Amino acid sequence: MKKLIAANWKMNKTVSEAGEYCRELKKSRTKNDVIIFPSFISLPFANSLLGRERCGAQDVFFEGSGSFTGEVSPKMVKEVADYVIIGHSERRALGESDQMLNKKAVASQKAGLKIIFCIGEKKGEDRNFLFKKQISAGLAGVEDVIIAYEPVWAIGTGKTPTKEEIKEAVEFIKSLKNVKVLYGGSVSEKNAKKFLSVCDGLLVGGASLDIAKFLEIANS
Ligand code: PGA
Repeated sequence: MKKLIAANWKMNKTVSEAGEYCRELKKSRTKNDVIIFPSFISLPFANSLLGRERCGAQDVFFEGSGSFTGEVSPKMVKEVADYVIIGHSERRALGESDQMLNKKAVASQKAGLKIIFCIGEKKGEDRNFLFKKQISAGLAGVEDVIIAYEPVWAIGTGKTPTKEEIKEAVEFIKSLKNVKVLYGGSVSEKNAKKFLSVCDGLLVGGASLDIAKFLEIANS
């Protein structure tokens, strides 16, 4: 079965750099399905090269329209992308609560976006207790969603859980909600295949910025 490989570029790549990358990606066939998450400013260009079904936004606002300077609505995203990431730990660290994330998820669902909802523990936190809270509060009223399990301590650190630990976390998440589960946190071309054997796909940060590495991961 094909897996889902998502590239979270975070705050990297200008519009022209994004274009270069997308042209390369467009030329390449991959074993697994890929979705890229550029900055908002590069999304329309990425969409013109790859199509909406291979594009996503890294965040979204929860209101439909109005006086919200700097924000982007789900409807605006949907015109250029099918996917949205909600609840990345880097956004949670900026103060986004489970309640706010739930508003974003509900609004995104209403606009027809496919949601990748991130959950994950910090070092020392009770993982299963946290999962229950993040899922019940963040995804109340949200049915069609993909969950990304991203331990905060594994993001950008080169440290990862073992394959067995990921398997256990994925199974626990699936016991709470009927969802596909991606793994994210220091995924590389070296560990991708191993992790893919215990989950439905990967959310890749740093290693997704290099097209050659990302293609290797997408073909794992
Ligand atoms: P990383 O980031 O692959 O650079 O660890 C993953 C993420 O934050 O989604």
